[in-house]
Amino acid sequence: MDKFVIEGRVPLFGTSRVSGAKNASLALIPASLLTSGKTILSNTPRLNDVFTMSKLITRLGAVCNFEGHDLEIDTSGVNNQEAPYELVKKMRASIYVLGPLLARYGYAKVSLPGGCAWGPRPVDLHIRSMIKLGASIEIENGYIIGRAKKLQGATISFDRSTVGATGNLLMAAVLAKGHTIINNASMEPEVTNLIQLLTAMGAKISGIASPILEIEGVDELHPARVETIPDRVEAATLLTAAAITNGKITLNHCSPIHLLSPVAKLQEAGALVSSYGSTVSIDAANIELKSVDVATSPFPGFPTDMQAQWIALMSIAAGVSTITDTIYTDRFSHVPELNRLGSSISIKDNSAIVRGVPKLTGAKVMSTDLRASASLVLGGLAAYGTTEVLRVYHLDRGYEKLEEKLSLLGANITRVAGSEY
Ligand code: UD1
Repeated sequence: MDKFVIEGRVPLFGTSRVSGAKNASLALIPASLLTSGKTILSNTPRLNDVFTMSKLITRLGAVCNFEGHDLEIDTSGVNNQEAPYELVKKMRASIYVLGPLLARYGYAKVSLPGGCAWGPRPVDLHIRSMIKLGASIEIENGYIIGRAKKLQGATISFDRSTVGATGNLLMAAVLAKGHTIINNASMEPEVTNLIQLLTAMGAKISGIASPILEIEGVDELHPARVETIPDRVEAATLLTAAAITNGKITLNHCSPIHLLSPVAKLQEAGALVSSYGSTVSIDAANIELKSVDVATSPFPGFPTDMQAQWIALMSIAAGVSTITDTIYTDRFSHVPELNRLGSSISIKDNSAIVRGVPKLTGAKVMSTDLRASASLVLGGLAAYGTTEVLRVYHLDRGYEKLEEKLSLLGANITRVAGSEY
């Protein structure tokens, strides 16, 4: 297992290019199953979750080829509708194959994903959506088995905003017979990117980027090409890295419009942030960070995928802040690890109370999940001395060469391969 060794206290400086969005790719790749032929997804990030999703659809009979960051998927040979446990357990987003397989083949057998590091993360809304479209669903031996002669359009109103179930339902509804309405649909940019691909494939969807989506089912779709949107979590993580090191950086190939909420919080904390076209610049060189409360919420609110990194930043800000996660209420496994660096953070219900400390000091810390790992890297960048972030395979799932990007910005960070941890 690899680890990162970080010598902290180097202000980041320079320009970095933001990669394509992991969470968009994880929906776009299975959407290719809705048709036969070659779908091309440009700006696809080369990271482990994308490789796992590619492996999964390869298992179903598709052929995936990467040319740089263009991912070409040929689905003409798809002949298997079973997503096995050994792949699904690695990545919950595997559930995304349920909708497309049911819609196109009338059958899907998908392993139940199970829990994850920060709680149960159910898939009931995915299953209920398929039932609403007329599928019969049985749970047998840990698998969801779905059958449907032809899915039928329906009105589905989600009790809560859900990215994954909105995406799955969209992918099923585009080939269902008749009209589907999704109320309280997720408005995350990654869902909008999925709608762009589906529309390019010939789907009829209205209400794009709104909480009410209407879909008129079509008989078939055709292969298409779409560009994956920039990764807003990677971008916000890099901006936060600049803030925590009192640095000054510019990001290009990003979507400032997707970053309004984290940027507003960085500005409240004292950083100077500006954007122009597809670039965002942050100047935190001469600032004293101020404490800023955050509560996560669905887009356009503050993303839960930035909660851990925000806690890291607040741990050295002047004052006390409260960071509340309303989406994943117990996603705080990074807190004890950050405290090992000298942070003063306590948890009460679904909130972290962060008392800013004057300095962090390096230590060995353990990654527990993807965004937790990112927060530990930020902690290490800010800390005096040496920090070792162990088990960075979590981080490799969702960031494309983060340590290389940070090194190019001047950070003193090295990957040590195959360490004992
Ligand atoms: C996606 C993102 C993840 C992000 C999360 C919230 C991908 C691949 N992953 O995950 O990085 O942290 O959105 O922005 O895009 N829920 C249910 N039942 C369900 C589905 C969800 O109760 O069937 C709950 C979840 O437990 C959670 C909330 O709904 O509390 C939102 O989850 P959801 O938006 O579905 O998250 P994911 O799509 O799994």
